[in-house]
Amino acid sequence: MLNYICVGYEKERPVPIETCPVDGSGTFYPELLALPQHRLSPLLTVPLRILTQMLSTIRYHLLPLLQLYLLGLKVLLVQLLSRSFRLPVMPRQDGKVAIVTGGGRGIGYEVVRHMARLGAHVVIGGRDEQECLAAVRKIREEYKEAKVEFKKLDLASLQSVRQFVQSFKERDLPLNILVNNAGVMLVPEGCTEDGFEQHFGVNYLGHFLLTWLLLDTLKDSGKCGHFSRVINVSSSAHCIGKIRLNDLNNCYCYSAHAAYCQSKLALLLFSSHLHQELQRGGFPVSSCAVDPGMVDTELYRHLWTPFRLAQSAIARLLFKAPAEGAATVLYAALSPALEGDLEGGYWANGCREMTTPPTFDPKLQLSLWETSLQLLELQ
Ligand SMILES: NC(=O)c1ccc[n+]([C@@H]2O[C@H](COP(=O)([O-])OP(=O)(O)OC[C@H]3O[C@@H](n4cnc5c(N)ncnc54)[C@H](OP(=O)(O)O)[C@@H]3O)[C@@H](O)[C@H]2O)c1
Repeated sequence: MLNYICVGYEKERPVPIETCPVDGSGTFYPELLALPQHRLSPLLTVPLRILTQMLSTIRYHLLPLLQLYLLGLKVLLVQLLSRSFRLPVMPRQDGKVAIVTGGGRGIGYEVVRHMARLGAHVVIGGRDEQECLAAVRKIREEYKEAKVEFKKLDLASLQSVRQFVQSFKERDLPLNILVNNAGVMLVPEGCTEDGFEQHFGVNYLGHFLLTWLLLDTLKDSGKCGHFSRVINVSSSAHCIGKIRLNDLNNCYCYSAHAAYCQSKLALLLFSSHLHQELQRGGFPVSSCAVDPGMVDTELYRHLWTPFRLAQSAIARLLFKAPAEGAATVLYAALSPALEGDLEGGYWANGCREMTTPPTFDPKLQLSLWETSLQLLELQ
């Protein structure tokens, strides 16, 4: 039997080259060089193993971390130098029904509050009952007429997503706006109830299933000139994300930073593919992705403590307030200028933006879409 020295490792277990994970483009991870040990002096084996593990740590942990913080810095500078988008006055939304995931706090709360103020009936899909009920109370105190309610939804459980949709559908309400807003960032390694990596499971797969199960209601509720809208709250972090179709759960070498970026790129690919499918089928539903910018919310609470302290000091001065972060989401969800919009796309600071090439790669979009359907057993 051959022994291998692996530069990378899978749960401390050497992986023969034949079983090495491949990324979306079908190439092998170069670190997984399998060298027959008998050709090496035993004196070299240990240092080589240490060196290769160091290289692996740099590539799979340090690099994504540095990339994300450098991107954050760049985004913050651009945000400071440009004028923050101000939401124009939006028309009344009486008679419209919206679902906003993670609407109990942060950006989602501001989206719910604004929609409720305009007369929409808003359902907050959230997992923390107390927080969401407090949000409902606060909005009702502010606007006596507000039609806002809470329904339990834990995106880390596919069963919970199914139950949420079932109980929503039992009420025979239309659905004009779905805001896939809930998200987690830099959470420690862990799995959802169904065994998916948390960023991938909550930010992407849970929303995929939710949207899929609600598509018929969205289609029935849209009309020519009054499309139903799916708004996917992504992030600029998508542009450093990589989709590893053979390792979507990041088992090979876990990095919370890479996992967050991957989940936000996946959401963008999903949004774009969904939009095209809907337009091809001639359905009165559009889908777009939105980057809210850098916003002072609880999303950053899993940062490493020294970074968290620095971030919260900087955030109070330089980040957007949640209401400002919600502005582009609201614009994409409500603007009459986007009625019957055939382009979908990616929105940031009130404008449609071009983004990185993988986002437009139809092959990657389709592969991810089909893999997701298989993972969710929706075929
Ligand atoms: N803040 C930023 O700078 C920024 C930048 C780019 C993109 N975004 C995106 O904006 C969205 C909103 O984030 P935020 O900044 O408002 O953060 P936030 O204040 O942490 O809000 C996130 C919301 O998602 C909910 N959520 C988390 N896991 C959930 C689950 N398993 N099931 C249901 N709900 C869940 C949270 O509720 P729990 O109480 O249950 O955790 C919370 O209500 C996220 O998708 C985020 O990635 C934010």
